[in-house]
Amino acid sequence: MLLQVQDIHTYYGLSHILFGVSLEVDRGECVCLVGRNGAGKTTTFKSIMGLAAPRTGAVLWKGQPIQGNPPFAIARSGIGFVPEERAIFPDLTVWENLDVAHKLGTDGRSPWTVERVYEIFPRLEERKNQMGGTLSGGEQQMLTIARTLMGNPDLLLLDEPSEGLAPLIVDAIGELVLQLKQEDVTILLAEQNLHFSLAVSERAYVIDDGRIQFSGTTAELEAHPEIIQKYLAV
Ligand SMILES: Nc1ncnc2c1ncn2[C@@H]1O[C@H](COP(=O)(O)OP(=O)(O)O)[C@@H](O)[C@H]1O
Ligand SMILES: [Mg+2]
Repeated sequence: MLLQVQDIHTYYGLSHILFGVSLEVDRGECVCLVGRNGAGKTTTFKSIMGLAAPRTGAVLWKGQPIQGNPPFAIARSGIGFVPEERAIFPDLTVWENLDVAHKLGTDGRSPWTVERVYEIFPRLEERKNQMGGTLSGGEQQMLTIARTLMGNPDLLLLDEPSEGLAPLIVDAIGELVLQLKQEDVTILLAEQNLHFSLAVSERAYVIDDGRIQFSGTTAELEAHPEIIQKYLAV
């Protein structure tokens, strides 16, 4: 297993947020963590990244415990985090945004280059000389994902990439995730949008109130409408 989250409990100050969350992601998988607003998806990602270190439990990365390590060390070990709030430099061009994010992978190689990113994101090539801040919401989301790829991560954590985007743009982001899978990018996706998640993932974890309430294949989840109704219906 590439990533194993084992029975973590995470707090913000005195507030107990995650209650024994466990999940696993293997190389080449696209796994989704689905749940309503406030369920604990972002906190799970922050727990993995060391931004909200779990108080108990373990996070194993390539078999080694990383809980308690500083966020920069966790990022450098090959986990690329795409946060909910779009993390781009508004005053740098698209090309500069990509170029400053370039870093070799943990194996010293660099499969992702600006040229290769442009192949997958032709829209970004069209906009390469434009300032990041002048892009549309969907384009900024694409640039945020593309910047993280430029760090050649072994695992991509995508936090609600569909959030706040128009349906057509959400479809475009979905296509993009499918393309990344074809490029063998391993993905853990947090989403409220079940339809989007089911379209791109093979396995799903349902989180509610800081607890994993279901885990299985996406086909198994679809076969349990009562779970969808209870934890995911809006
Ligand atoms: N910095 C914080 N301090 C205190 N509580 C927080 C903080 N961030 C999130 N929370 C609370 O933690 C719970 C889980 O939030 P979050 O992980 O952001 O959920 P999701 O990403 O699934 O919407 C929510 O009840 C939220 O209000
Ligand atoms: Mg969130």
